[in-house]
Amino acid sequence: MQKSRIDKFVSNALSVNKRDVKLLLAQNKVMVDGIVITDAAFQINKFSKICVNGKVLQSDKPLYMMLHKPVGVVSATKDEIHKTVIDLLDNPNKESLHIVGRLDLNTSGLMLLTNDSRWSERLTLPQSKVPKVYQVTLKEQLTQDYIAAFQQGMYFEYEDITTEPAILEIISDYVAQVILMEGKYHQIKRMFGRFRNQVMQLHRSKIGNLSLDANLKAGDSRELTAEEVENIFS
Ligand code: URA
Repeated sequence: MQKSRIDKFVSNALSVNKRDVKLLLAQNKVMVDGIVITDAAFQINKFSKICVNGKVLQSDKPLYMMLHKPVGVVSATKDEIHKTVIDLLDNPNKESLHIVGRLDLNTSGLMLLTNDSRWSERLTLPQSKVPKVYQVTLKEQLTQDYIAAFQQGMYFEYEDITTEPAILEIISDYVAQVILMEGKYHQIKRMFGRFRNQVMQLHRSKIGNLSLDANLKAGDSRELTAEEVENIFS
């Protein structure tokens, strides 16, 4: 998580110069997470609770939410036309959240939102290789050829990339489960597009070790537990 110095933060927050901040520190007027701080170089982050002279200057708590995204809701924080995933959330601090890995307008399923950018980066950085599980309903019948093609990877000229090996399991004639280790633009639709097979329904059920809560109806959301936040990577 990005860190900064306490003296810089107080100076900015109260619009006072560094000498005045030093005085406040020396007078034991600055508290970080309930502890009096006198060192001007003390390191804080965006979730440190900071009080000066008893006044709270910062008290953001990390927030992690899962949403069962319905079809027709856009993965953005603002949109002129469609309802956004933020609109669906029932949390007073929802405006501080950002999306961890988008889903297309017509894709449903597990969507994560947080204000903790270190956590979201760990989940989305390509080198993290966090698996994402999708259920896909197709227009045309599946064949065994798909399995090797998804495993081998596909070259996309537009971005000049070859997709990472993906696991495709045939569930029934028209339904597959796909596990991706990455999230390129419209990746699943484009991969099935190679077989001229149109994706009719797409649903994400799992990210890392975290499954969409079966009790959440489309449009419902809830906060993650501390265990879920940690265990998603295991
Ligand atoms: N792949 C897609 O094509 N769309 C999504 O929403 C997610 C993965």
